[in-house]
Amino acid sequence: MSWPRVKVNVSPLWTELEQLAQISDVQPPAVTRILFTANDRKARAFLKDRFAEASLSVREDPAGNIFARWHGEDAQAVPIATGSHIDAVPFSGRYDGTVGVLGALEAIRALQRSGWRPARSIDLVVFTSEEPTRFGIGCLGSRLLSGSLSAEQAAALIDSEGKSFEYVRRQAGCTGSLEDVRVRVGHYAAFVELHIEQGRILEQKQLPIGVVTAIAGPAALRVELTGEGGHAGAVLMPDRKDALCAAAEIILAAEEAAKGSGSPDTVATTGVCRVHPAAINSIPSKITLEIDVRDIDLGRRDQVLEQIQRAAHAVGQRRGLATEVAVRSADSPGRAGSKIIHAIQAACRHLGHDYLSMVSRAYHDSLFMAQLAPTGMIFIPCRGGVSHRPDEYTSPEAIGVGVEVLALTLVQLASDTSENPAS
Ligand code: HGY
Ligand code: MN
Ligand code: MN
Repeated sequence: MSWPRVKVNVSPLWTELEQLAQISDVQPPAVTRILFTANDRKARAFLKDRFAEASLSVREDPAGNIFARWHGEDAQAVPIATGSHIDAVPFSGRYDGTVGVLGALEAIRALQRSGWRPARSIDLVVFTSEEPTRFGIGCLGSRLLSGSLSAEQAAALIDSEGKSFEYVRRQAGCTGSLEDVRVRVGHYAAFVELHIEQGRILEQKQLPIGVVTAIAGPAALRVELTGEGGHAGAVLMPDRKDALCAAAEIILAAEEAAKGSGSPDTVATTGVCRVHPAAINSIPSKITLEIDVRDIDLGRRDQVLEQIQRAAHAVGQRRGLATEVAVRSADSPGRAGSKIIHAIQAACRHLGHDYLSMVSRAYHDSLFMAQLAPTGMIFIPCRGGVSHRPDEYTSPEAIGVGVEVLALTLVQLASDTSENPAS
């Protein structure tokens, strides 16, 4: 392997991360950036300007996935891709996703400055809606790209204001049919994503790089409970059908099911609880719960998912409430491709960085890109493992190491045109 001498400029990258963090619905240090809101669209425009400055050719697909291409010397060779997301859950941090987008841009700029040229074209992808905030399902863009979600299913998704994904995407300027988003296996020869760990293993072991071997399989459950409501003073306790008290039992049942799975790898979180009519002196008549269940073992995850569904129906029946339980998504765990793992490890060895092979408990667009091409992830440490909080933090040094490793991983993947992936 002839390795180019790559010099990563962290300072402009740090400034760009700072500028992007300001494009948010809430005051710093928190970041809120929800799919196709004014700030999401502003952030997209900000990135397209940065990509154009780096002479990348930019296109956007009908789902709003953005592809910034560095054209390779061999037009016949199947391209590779890297990238991540820029949407941010409410009141979260500024590094989740953005490090994999702006870090990939700096990796490409550093390679351009080194004089190296790719044989395979390199796509830097900004995926639409990796976070489930607006439509209740994560990785909308990479699901559509990989075919894990059909155009019909996506178009029909409705947000909390009753607006469909189809309506919202068109309002945001996305044109064309969602049918045209999907690409086939073989469209890319490889995909690699740089991301903060969102856990504290690397920090505790004082290691600069994590090489992801597998990604936990996420599932999302929606529970809707309907009672009778009524006056908080006038309706006596035995006569009530209080939807929020039922929800409380179900939330604890979800926690209990995950804790009782027999493995620390099972997690369950009720992250959304919408109360109607949400007035102190009205008995809650309608509740919507959204429950996130994950595990690196599919069978165990599904067992816990079923246990929670059974508990929800049992509580609803005992309390005389109408109960609807729907599995919104249930994805299998993903495995990283050995070729990508080896390329990341070779880059670390060449640069003299220690690394740790590890599982990702968070999901990422890589989970769906792995259905399209050999895929891998590079983790960098984040302080205290904190993420999805305003105090999420990773250092310029940690980002610099991650970008260096990504750059040399891209060199290996974009240089070798000996084999084109099976299409
Ligand atoms: O929820 C996740 O794992 C990711 O941050 N969307
Ligand atoms: Mn996230
Ligand atoms: Mn993320």
